[in-house]
This record gives sequence, C-alpha cells and structure tokens, in this order.
Amino acid sequence: SEILRVGIAGLGTVGAAVARLLRRQAEALTARTGRQIVLAGVSARDAAKVRDADLSGAEFFPDPVKLASSPAIDLFVELIGGSEGPARASVETALAHGKAVVTANKALLAAHGLHLAALAEENHAALAFEASVAGGIPIVKTLREGLAGNSIERVYGILNGTCNYILSRMEKEQLSFEECLKEAQRLGYAEADPTFDIGGFDTAHKLAILTSLAFGTRIAAGAIDIEGIERVTLADIDAAAELGYRIKLLGVAQRTADGVEQRVHPTMVSKNSAIAQVMGVLNAVTIDADAVHELTLVGPGAGGDATASAVVADIADIAKGVRSAPFGLPTAKLAELKRTPMQRHEGG
Ligand code: NDP
Ligand code: HSE
Repeated sequence: SEILRVGIAGLGTVGAAVARLLRRQAEALTARTGRQIVLAGVSARDAAKVRDADLSGAEFFPDPVKLASSPAIDLFVELIGGSEGPARASVETALAHGKAVVTANKALLAAHGLHLAALAEENHAALAFEASVAGGIPIVKTLREGLAGNSIERVYGILNGTCNYILSRMEKEQLSFEECLKEAQRLGYAEADPTFDIGGFDTAHKLAILTSLAFGTRIAAGAIDIEGIERVTLADIDAAAELGYRIKLLGVAQRTADGVEQRVHPTMVSKNSAIAQVMGVLNAVTIDADAVHELTLVGPGAGGDATASAVVADIADIAKGVRSAPFGLPTAKLAELKRTPMQRHEGG
C-alpha cells in the first residue's frame, strides 16, 4: 500500500501518546485506510530527553519549521501548543507547502483558525483538529458531518478536563484548589500555563471553535464573556452541595435574536441533572438542534491517550483522502459573528 509519512512536532503528553498509538494500531490503521502510516520525523526542544514512545526510524528535527517543510513527510502533526511562536510558524509552513496538518492546538485555532483554514484552501491541503475540543470526544466530526442535516440552536458543556477534575476532587476528597491543580498538572491534563485552564480561556478557545462549526460563523474568541474558576473555594462547593447543586465550568453558545451569544462561567447545576454526573477529567457536550433535538456526548476531555485517539482519527481520515472544509463551510461563506450581550440568568 502507498505509504503516508507523518511528522510529529511536540513529544510531550499528547505527542508521545500519538507516536505510541500509531505503532500499537499500525496494522488496524493500514486495514482501515489502505495505507501504511509511518512516523518519518519528529521535533521537540530536547533531543536527548528519553520519550515514552518508540521513535525508531523517525528523523529528529531540532526546528519544527524544518520538519514542517521537509520533503520527508506528507502530513504534519502539531502538538507543541501556543497561539504564536513555533506552533503557528510550523503549521503555516506545512500548509504553504501543501502538506496536510493535524493539530490539537485550540489556542492557535481560536486566534488564527480562519487564516489557517484559508491557507489550507489556497494550498489544497487538509487541516484537521478533532483533538482541539473536548479531548477524546469526536465533537468536531459530530457537528460538522454528523449533524449536517440540522439547524443548531445551542451547543454547551464542560469543555475543560482540568477544571472539571479540580472541581470534582475538591468536592469528593475535600482537597484544596491548589492540591487538585497540582495533581491535574502531574497527570498531564493542564496546559503548560494552567491559567488558560482555570481562567476559563481554554474553555473559551474550544467554545469559539464549536461556535464556528455549529453556526457557520467566523471564529470570534474575543467576543466571549469569560469567567474562570480561580475564585471558587471549597466553602462555595460545600455550600452548593448542601443546597443540592454542583459547580461546573460551562461554555455556552446559543442563537439569539441578535446573533450568537457565547459565554464561559462557573454555573450551579442541580445534582440530579445529567451534567452534574460528569465528574473528574470527563467532558460533556450537549447540542440542541431541530431534527435530532438533543444530543450529549460524554468522554475523557484531556490526557495523552484520549487526545491521541482524536489525533489518530484525523490522521486516518487524511490517509483515506477525506477532505472536509475545516469549519464546515468554505471560508468565504463563514458569516461574521457579532458580539451579543450576555444573558447570564438563562444558565447552562
Ligand atoms: P507538553 O507540554 O506535554 O508537550 C509539548 C511538547 O512541545 C514538548 O515535547 C516540547 O519539547 C515541545 N516543544 C516546545 N517548544 C518547542 C519548540 N520550540 N520546538 C520543538 N518542540 C517544542 O504539551 P501537551 O502534549 O500537553 O500539549 C500539546 C498540545 O496539545 C497543546 O496545544 C495542548 O493545548 C493540546 N492538548 C493537550 C491535551 C492534554 O490533555 N495534555 C488535550 C488536548 C489538547 P520538550 O519535550 O523537548 O520540552
Ligand atoms: N488543558 C486541557 C483540559 C487539555 O484540561 O481540558 C485538553 O484540551
């Protein structure tokens, strides 16, 4: 079978897990895609670091931009992180060279998604980012392909594994915010700078991507009202529990008369509700749509293996020749998104 040569930039929690999964599932992936998927190149900061993956046969590139433009690869996987710097430069370089790109980088997409999608279009290259929202939950494909026959009214849910893990453990184990955050970092759930998680910004990045997919609008992360969980204390959680509630950090995007409203904030949800049962590193996304009515997906929202599952699904799609417009529509057809006033009382 024809070989698909993959380059992975970033060999941390997610990058190493992708390398492991590609090897572990090599035979099945060849059977499913008709192609042999080979790890041809890798990039990281530290060439000497021992990685939790077998990288034999892959050439090491100290510079991810060099890997992105190397004739030795057909598909570039960006797992470095950050909306600028080497992540942005390498993704732009790969697309400009007509190479397919797979990324889990929601910060990059929230800041430059439209520009990158246009660059992909111009260069007839695929751009895929299933792993960028809700870790292992296939929510991008669900919104873009699975619900193509629907008009979507609202999409909302728990979109950050670190925050849900912290809030869950604080309640269950009566631990402090700081202890729980440290544990989330140790487990590889948190962003390199955890302010993105606890400040609600990571949820906002993901919501911006979901909004674009659900409503056919241009990404507008700057139009999101954001409140994080930094000020939630054990006393708040216990007080809510006594009244029959749990505190969850929710991202909500909904159609209104004035456009699409997007917001991120801690929300009290009844302990009996389905969303309150979503504990630990799990995420949940609910979609209200005209034909399917209500659909909820629940699954691991962070962590190496779960995120690698989504990255490898994108790699498999590209190996099969699946070509989707990244945000569901040609970029010229994506509508401008106006900021609409927040209506907090409507809840999640
Ligand atoms: P890590 O911090 O674990 O890994 C980052 C990797 O990038 C490291 O291997 C690092 O190299 C490498 N890197 C950093 N700077 C450079 C550079 N200048 N050149 C080459 N390599 C570089 O991050 P994660 O794996 O957790 O996250 C990666 C991406 O996936 C991020 O965009 C994140 O938001 C996203 N994501 C993460 C999830 C998770 O659960 N962790 C879930 C979903 C998405 P070195 O190892 O040598 O330092
Ligand atoms: N830091 C993110 C989270 C990783 O905790 O949800 C998954 O996108």
